[in-house]
Amino acid sequence: MTRAIAIDGPAASGKSSVAKVLSQKLNLVMVNSGAMYRAMAWKILQLGIDPNDAAAVIAALPTMDLECGVDTSGKLSTVGFDGQWLSDELRSEQVNNAVSAVAKIPELRTILLKKQAAYLESYDVVMEGRDIGTVVFPETPYKFFFKASEKIRQARREAEGITDSIAERDKQDSNRKTAPLKPADDAIIINTEDYDLDGVVACVIEHLETLGW
Ligand code: CDP
Repeated sequence: MTRAIAIDGPAASGKSSVAKVLSQKLNLVMVNSGAMYRAMAWKILQLGIDPNDAAAVIAALPTMDLECGVDTSGKLSTVGFDGQWLSDELRSEQVNNAVSAVAKIPELRTILLKKQAAYLESYDVVMEGRDIGTVVFPETPYKFFFKASEKIRQARREAEGITDSIAERDKQDSNRKTAPLKPADDAIIINTEDYDLDGVVACVIEHLETLGW
């Protein structure tokens, strides 16, 4: 039986950094579900489609064959199209501005949900995103929700040299009808401002042990 750790939270709340360390320490595949939404947004822009035109995005879905895998380290998820893995292009300002509009579309989410669930058929995973505890793996007992003030999160992105209007994305992600950003009822909430990276990792591991991991 494979197991899943779900980590949800708003932009720049520390999910990816913590999930990467956990994947090493606990020998899991770290699945960045946001990269899947970013890859779809990137492709929509490549196709010259307006990400806010939901009908046009839906019409293009059958032609968009997102490939999801695991990198050579065996620890990190990968996304791509036509055998080309995507990485830096997924963090561009254009993708930052397009991704939440695309992520609102239920038809697109249904496609990605299947790809996310498929990882658990082969691997133990730590998956991070917005709806992992509520929609993707609601049955896992290992659910975390990270939060941090908007000021801190915006500063983290600026320190990375990334232009990202995270407040706008958070608003769209929290207010959408399908799979909005919110903690699962049984998620453990961690304010990542209270700790450094090692501290958050230690806190998560402590909770996992209490939960019988
Ligand atoms: O890295 P950051 O936290 O800024 O964002 P991300 O995890 O790369 O996710 C990018 C966008 O994808 C989010 O703003 C959401 O619109 C969407 N997303 C989602 O809707 N559901 C998920 N499980 C993961 C991401």
